[in-house]
Amino acid sequence: MDDLGDIVGSIAAQMSAEADRGRVADYIPALARVSPDHFGIAVVTADGTLHAAGDAQLPFSVQSVSKVFALTLALDRVGDDLWKRVGREPSGSAFNSIVQLESERGIPRNPFINAGAIVVSDALLAGQHAREAIGDLLRFVRFLADDDGVTIDSEVAHSEAGTGFRNFALANYMKAFGNLDNAVEEACKVYFHQCALTMSCCQLAMAGRFLMADGVHPGTGRPVITPERARRINALMLTCGHYDGSGEFAFRVGIPGKSGVGGGILAIVPGKASIAVWSPGLNERGNSKLGSLALEKLAERTGWSVF
Ligand code: DON
Repeated sequence: MDDLGDIVGSIAAQMSAEADRGRVADYIPALARVSPDHFGIAVVTADGTLHAAGDAQLPFSVQSVSKVFALTLALDRVGDDLWKRVGREPSGSAFNSIVQLESERGIPRNPFINAGAIVVSDALLAGQHAREAIGDLLRFVRFLADDDGVTIDSEVAHSEAGTGFRNFALANYMKAFGNLDNAVEEACKVYFHQCALTMSCCQLAMAGRFLMADGVHPGTGRPVITPERARRINALMLTCGHYDGSGEFAFRVGIPGKSGVGGGILAIVPGKASIAVWSPGLNERGNSKLGSLALEKLAERTGWSVF
């Protein structure tokens, strides 16, 4: 394999030169202002080396990428009882779809579609106030990234809360089926702030290392989660991480990945690398157009795949 640093640099140069950059999410007003010209990539390998290029140090709104960390923390808090409230199946539908909730009696298909993530946010509350649960998650992600510079952009959170009618509808519908333990407003407040986690590609790749390392935090050498749970979260990222684009991502990239409408993608090569890419322009399924392409090229150039 060519030198990984050279590969990362050449991919960043290629992506920065791409003309068709996709469309920036505009349904969350605060995100609509972000330029589609940005591209960043960061790769942390198992030996701890960090390769970064482009806008890899620029912070961005991770949005649904945060669902990986929220799920990890919620499983640590409530254990496998969580799976009584949310499934593990790909939805095959858009990230904010409500359609399946009716036929499936308020149980979301998986923890990465919005409905599933709201149930996870509800589980994080566990009798606390939203502010406490949000603080717990922020401290957890800072711990995973080894970086107290990770923040939550409250302007983004409030911007989404002001226009998050579909998420409130999802939460109310699940509440009606008894699948929300807390007030709709509290669960959604945790969810909006979780999605407003603001990280650079370097910070995000560092935060994903435990999923590369069988659940162990490379900085401490101690387990964050069990190897089995790490494998299962990677499995969910592969099968559900890109919603109705998950099949295409698995076909073209072949490693677990979780996207966000801020244009970020966290991808994991178990045992080898934790990768973060960022390009704000999205494809028709709400996943980063050039982030997906960059990961496809990285997989081609390195031969990384779970298959
Ligand atoms: O709930 C929403 O619509 C956003 N806060 C997150 C959606 C998202 O990132 C979907 N991923 N591509």
